[in-house]
Amino acid sequence: MSEIVISTPVIANLEQLFLKHNLTKKTVVLFDENTKELFGKEILTALEKQDFKWVELVIPARETSKSFRTAYRLYGELIKAEVDRSWNLLAVGGGVVGDLGGYVAASYYRGIPVIQFPTTLLAMTDSSIGGKVAINHSQGKNLIGFFHMPELVMIDPSYLKSLPEREVYAGMAEVVKYGFIADKQFLNYVNRHFKDIIAIQEPCITEAIRQSAMIKSDVVEQDFREQSGLRATLNFGHTFAHGFEKLADYRHIRHGEAVAIGMICALHLSETLGKISRNELQEGLAVLKKFKFRRGLVRKRFKDIPAETILESMHSDKKKVDKQLRYVLLEGLGKAYLHPEPLDNRIVIKAIEAAKLSVQA
Ligand SMILES: NC(=O)c1ccc[n+]([C@@H]2O[C@H](COP(=O)([O-])OP(=O)(O)OC[C@H]3O[C@@H](n4cnc5c(N)ncnc54)[C@H](O)[C@@H]3O)[C@@H](O)[C@H]2O)c1
Ligand SMILES: [Zn+2]
Repeated sequence: MSEIVISTPVIANLEQLFLKHNLTKKTVVLFDENTKELFGKEILTALEKQDFKWVELVIPARETSKSFRTAYRLYGELIKAEVDRSWNLLAVGGGVVGDLGGYVAASYYRGIPVIQFPTTLLAMTDSSIGGKVAINHSQGKNLIGFFHMPELVMIDPSYLKSLPEREVYAGMAEVVKYGFIADKQFLNYVNRHFKDIIAIQEPCITEAIRQSAMIKSDVVEQDFREQSGLRATLNFGHTFAHGFEKLADYRHIRHGEAVAIGMICALHLSETLGKISRNELQEGLAVLKKFKFRRGLVRKRFKDIPAETILESMHSDKKKVDKQLRYVLLEGLGKAYLHPEPLDNRIVIKAIEAAKLSVQA
C-alpha cells in the first residue's frame, strides 16, 4: 500500500519524501483553478527552493473536467513540454484532480508515477487512497480508468481551512461511513468530536483523517480488485446514494450528501432485516442527525420523492452486477457485510419510508 504522510506543512519535506520513494525531481503539477489560486504559490515556491524541475497544468474546477477531452488536452501539453517517462505527476486538489491526474499519469507514456496531494476532506479520506483513477463517459461516471496506485499520498490537514462548509460535510459522510463499516470506537470518536472535525480543529481533524485513511487502505489492501466483497463494504449507503444522485442529475446534490441520506436508509434496512437492534439504529441515526444540509435539499431531493421512484433510479445504476442491486448492510455498529441475496422491493421501500421519517428536513 502507498505510504500516507499526514503533516503540516507537508511540502516542507517534499525532497526527502520523493527521494525515499525513488521519485525524480521532475514533476508535473496538476491543479484545478481553485487549488492553483489557493496553494499554487506556496507549492511552486517549495518546488523551486528544493531544486525541482516542473511543468504546471491547470483544469477547470468541475466534475466535467474528468473527461477524455481534458485528458487529451493535458497529453498535448505534456508532449509539448517534453515530459517523458522519467517524470512524475503531483495531483493537487479534490477527487476531480486526483482522478483525472491519476488517469493521465496511468496512461501517459504507458504510465508515470502519481503522487496524490488531496485538498478536500473527501479526497484526503477516500479518493486519493486505493488507486482507482478514472474519467467519466457521457453514459456514466468513472467508467473509463485504471488501478494506478499512488507512489505516495501527502496530506496537509491545514489546507482544509479554506474548504467551503458544504464540502466539509460532504467529506464527513465518508468519515462517518468508515466508523459504521469497520470501527465502532472510531464512530464514537467522530460522534463526540463532530463539531471540532467540521471546524477543522486539531487534533481531531488529523485523527479523523488518519483513522479514515487507515481503514480505507486496510480494506483496499485486503481486497484490491473487489473480489471478496470486503472492498464493496466501502459502498455502505452508496446504493441508495447513487439513486439520489442520478435523480438529481449528479448536479444538485453532493455525493457526500447523498451518502449521508443513503446511510440513514441502509441503517433502517439493516434494522428491518433484524441485523441490528432498535438501539443500534437509534445510536447510528444520532450521528447522522448531526449533518447539516442546505435548507430544502433534504426535502426536495429525498422526502418529496416517492420511495418507488428512488428505488427505480437505484436500479438504473450502471455498476450493478447481474442486474441485481447489491446492499451493504450492518450486522452491528462497526461491522458491515455485503448482503448475499437480492432483497424484495417492498422491504427496501419500507426502509426508505422509515428513513424519510427520521431525517430532519
Ligand atoms: N478514486 C476514488 O476512489 C474516488 C472515491 C470517491 C470519489 N471520487 C471522485 O471524487 C470526485 C469528487 O471529489 P471532491 O468531492 O473532492 O470534489 P472536487 O474535486 O470537485 O472538489 C470540490 C471543490 O472544492 C474545491 N477545493 C479543493 N480543495 C479546496 C480547498 N482546500 N479549499 C477550498 N476549495 C477547495 C475544488 O476546486 C472544487 O471546487 C468525484 O469525481 C468522484 O467520482 C473518486
Ligand atoms: Zn463515496
